[in-house]
Amino acid sequence: MYRKLFFILIFFLTGNLLQAENEEPEFLFSCQPYLQQLSDTEVTIVWGTNKDAVSWVEIAPDDSRNFYAAERPKFFDTNFGRKKIGTLHKIHITGLSPATKYRYRIYSKEVTRKEHRDVRYGRVIANNIHKGKPYVFSTLNPDKREIHFAVVNDIHENIGRYAKLFHAVDSASLDFMLLNGDMVNKMDSVEQMYRGFINTSSELFAKSLPFYMVRGNHETRGNCSEEYINLFPSPTQQPYYSFAYGPVCFIVLDGGEDKPDSDIEYNDLADFDKYRTEQVEWLKKVVVSEEYKKAAVHIVLIHVPPFGKTWHGILEVQSKFIPVLNEADVHLMLSGHIHRHEYYASGQSVCKFPLLINSNRHILDVKVADREIYIDMIDEKGIVEKQFTFSTDK
Ligand SMILES: [Fe+2]
Repeated sequence: MYRKLFFILIFFLTGNLLQAENEEPEFLFSCQPYLQQLSDTEVTIVWGTNKDAVSWVEIAPDDSRNFYAAERPKFFDTNFGRKKIGTLHKIHITGLSPATKYRYRIYSKEVTRKEHRDVRYGRVIANNIHKGKPYVFSTLNPDKREIHFAVVNDIHENIGRYAKLFHAVDSASLDFMLLNGDMVNKMDSVEQMYRGFINTSSELFAKSLPFYMVRGNHETRGNCSEEYINLFPSPTQQPYYSFAYGPVCFIVLDGGEDKPDSDIEYNDLADFDKYRTEQVEWLKKVVVSEEYKKAAVHIVLIHVPPFGKTWHGILEVQSKFIPVLNEADVHLMLSGHIHRHEYYASGQSVCKFPLLINSNRHILDVKVADREIYIDMIDEKGIVEKQFTFSTDK
């Protein structure tokens, strides 16, 4: 009798184990949404799923009506007119009104089979707007004369420190975050990027506020470094780009790697000298553009500072980018990379403009009002260690 019961028990246990082994993981969001390239009329919303899916966003004005009050316009993740199937979802929304608050809801529909004439679907997942609230964002106000942003760099996947630094600023009035490179150690997979800092960004702010990414030398490394522009889309479709907000025109540069292209560490995959040469041709056009010339304030971001005389990448930045910037009425350059704070007033370095290098343990809380730039350098405990004021009046 006992022997029979024993075998029945074994039968059920092994059956359950085999079933558990064969069970497909549940279809889930693997990365919460984050906003990219928010402007007065457009935004890109990005998120991830653990399995192939087609995705879309529903948008609603932030009025008193329930999100469920009407059928909401849908914006799909498409590629030249065809809905995209994948695990990284990137939806570009256009035609928005300036300075307007919107609610949004994200959807992904699992694709279980994708043969030519036989595409099959599984579950649809979406953020809960019944028990939870829809996500919100506000488009930019092109007439805004005062802006508030914060800068961190060299987080190297230390999400605890990232959160502490973020909480050290008054986030309620932030317009956006600037992430000035080396947020991860290397780009081995998109999942590692989600874990490394993107999901933390979404939890902290990025469902509602965009972040602007500056590529650090560590983001040039790893097996999925080609995914960079899919994770962080830009108007140039390159890691370098410019954008204007309020009185400021920002130039985001990519200094690339720091050693010579032939260095053993790059496994014969580096071609950064040519990339920097192409970039400087783009830069020459930006600094004579109408958008740049009409901005009262010009701020340049580059992860590797043009500081020191020995490393190849830095020498390249000094010889290629700085001569152009020195003639372009730049008011401030923000850098990172060396994991400590340094400051060089205008003319104290190779730059004819102030160079502020942020450490990996401080957040720069930056306010720009008309022609003045005010910066608090704040540590993880929220203590303001240094303050800087730059006037752009000459
Ligand atoms: Fe770095």
